[in-house]
Amino acid sequence: MTIKVTCINGSPRPRGVTSRFLEICERAVNQSSEEMEIHTLIPSKKKVMPCTHCDSCIETGYCAFKDKDDVQNMYDVINDSDLLYIGTPVYFAGAPGAFKSFIDRAQVFWNRRYVRREEIPVRISRAIVVATCGSRGKSMFDGLFQTMYYFLDSLGIKLLRERDMLAYRRMEQPDDIKAEVAQQVELFVREAAQAIAKEKRPFQKGKK
Ligand SMILES: Cc1cc2nc3c(=O)[nH]c(=O)nc-3n(C[C@H](O)[C@H](O)[C@H](O)COP(=O)(O)O)c2cc1C
Repeated sequence: MTIKVTCINGSPRPRGVTSRFLEICERAVNQSSEEMEIHTLIPSKKKVMPCTHCDSCIETGYCAFKDKDDVQNMYDVINDSDLLYIGTPVYFAGAPGAFKSFIDRAQVFWNRRYVRREEIPVRISRAIVVATCGSRGKSMFDGLFQTMYYFLDSLGIKLLRERDMLAYRRMEQPDDIKAEVAQQVELFVREAAQAIAKEKRPFQKGKK
């Protein structure tokens, strides 16, 4: 049984804090005793047309930009995963632009699920989020985490535990990630992967 982990890097910054956290995530995945496969998606490096509220997805169940950019392919990768890891910085109390445009395109799933009342089978069951910001601001993650909840809900992915979203303040540079924080994230990813493996195991047993 191979567990497919998809990582979204919400930051447009190469070699930034989020990229460093993704390296930590990859290490945790690679060291796991479970068989794992990891894919990384970086919306800022892809062609992502912004949602224009054309309502095509309400009428047809498909996005008007479906064949015009890279978004559909990225959602296909996510929907074929077991675990979604979202790493993102806070930009003006929300998600960075390209990542937010990518999130807005999940409207097609929201409309299919809640307006068209379609049953959308989902393979992926769990997501974890690691978010960072530069300031000490107490409420700095509130807007981003609200966005994450509704984004994941549109994809039919549940955050099973409150602590599936980690938030780290005062992170301007990758070296601001202290060893204990790196360990926390590594453990966090490993635990999530183990939880997925446990969920999938009884399922596998019955299979010939
Ligand atoms: C355009 C922009 C907007 C930002 N907005 C905020 C903000 O609203 N609050 C905050 O605390 N930090 C803010 N930051 C700082 C980043 O969230 C922080 O440095 C983050 O850890 C950088 O992660 P990265 O290196 O992965 O991009 C902002 C940075 C940029 C470039």
